[in-house]
Amino acid sequence: MSRLQAEHLYKVFGRRPDDAVRKLENGATRDELRAEGTTAAVIDASFTVDEGQIFVVMGLSGSGKSTLLRMLNGLLEPTAGSVRFDGQDLTTLSPKELRRVRSQKISMVFQHFALFPHRSVLENAAYGLEVQGVPKAERQKRAHEALELAGLKGWEKSWPDELSGGMQQRVGLARALATDADLLLMDESFSALDPLIRRDMQDQLLELQKTLKKTIVFITHDLNEAMRLGDRIAVMRDGRIVQNGSAEDILVRPSNDYVASFIQDVDRTRVLTAGAIMTDVASVLGSKDADGTEISTAEQFRAAAPATVTKDTPLVDLFAPCSASAVPVAVADAAGELIGAVPAQKLLAALGEPEPQAQDAVAAVPAQPAPEDKKPVATDEAAEDAASEDTDGKDADESKVIAGA
Ligand SMILES: Nc1ncnc2c1ncn2[C@@H]1O[C@H](COP(=O)(O)OP(=O)(O)OP(=O)(O)O)[C@@H](O)[C@H]1O
Ligand SMILES: [Mg+2]
Repeated sequence: MSRLQAEHLYKVFGRRPDDAVRKLENGATRDELRAEGTTAAVIDASFTVDEGQIFVVMGLSGSGKSTLLRMLNGLLEPTAGSVRFDGQDLTTLSPKELRRVRSQKISMVFQHFALFPHRSVLENAAYGLEVQGVPKAERQKRAHEALELAGLKGWEKSWPDELSGGMQQRVGLARALATDADLLLMDESFSALDPLIRRDMQDQLLELQKTLKKTIVFITHDLNEAMRLGDRIAVMRDGRIVQNGSAEDILVRPSNDYVASFIQDVDRTRVLTAGAIMTDVASVLGSKDADGTEISTAEQFRAAAPATVTKDTPLVDLFAPCSASAVPVAVADAAGELIGAVPAQKLLAALGEPEPQAQDAVAAVPAQPAPEDKKPVATDEAAEDAASEDTDGKDADESKVIAGA
């Protein structure tokens, strides 16, 4: 089982980080530490990502997302806490062992996947395998397969600058897939793409994930992207994970005002499903159908209902049937068994903004912060840095790569 487990992870930048962790454990705030000149980038983060799951991390700029991600593959050493993958504690490995794990089991896809401009698409896709020392024939074969998975069959001999931005990003994805790594770390990987291409890449990732069943951690600023991709979503604020749950948990039961204000712009009709808002079939019994006849059995309800849907049907598809009849929409399971009902009032109520669960009054924040406008570069050096994911222990920060031109 390629499960990823982070436990009580801390990352503090600045002098005497261990002291800072002790202070945080004793209740010090991030601001108090900042006054002393240290930055608590990640504070006490714990979570588990199972094989086949996509774990999305969301949060404002500076909330600690990239720092968290880079501790997961050992690019950054945690100040405290542990990261276990495949049963191995990555924080206890020697630099050499860590490099081996990183080149074989973990792949990273950045926002701007800087490709080597003087290498063909095929050679770019094969790069991770080259780092692993895979013989040429074998790595070309696997790169071919990965390109096909990423929808780039036929482009193997092209140069990166002959590809659109979306296609270049696919080469980045193919490079990550070619290595057979079980853990995929994606930092704003689709953020630089046009909305349509971005949606296309999201679909492709979901489609690939059905068969590949990787363990994926995906960082995004985009709520709709988070809701589409995430089996679980963690919301970060000032270094802490303030909520970790399914899209539905976060939409229906935001843990505080911060999360509530974060989600206010999400298109709830496409994220929430009939299963999330349905009531018991029993609640319909005793009501009247369109002709005024009492509905007294489940079968009568089914016959009178304007439509029968599954629990996974998005709310957006319930409006038409709900407006066509006063009888609730019926919900059935895969076997056709009635499992619930969606009355029109429930549907309308679900569109309102939920109250936060806990009384954690915080200032409202802008709902959808714009990601920083980072310009891609594609120098060999930059690509090397990004692609090698730091093969000699120094910090291969993608933002440096991006700013490095
Ligand atoms: N190498 C470093 N040295 C000092 N401080 C750092 C370093 N890297 C990150 N930080 C600080 O840690 C905090 C979290 O940064 P991080 O890059 O993890 O945020 P982020 O959530 O990824 O933001 P963005 O959405 O802008 O990418 C910030 O306050 C940042 O300034
Ligand atoms: Mg970041």
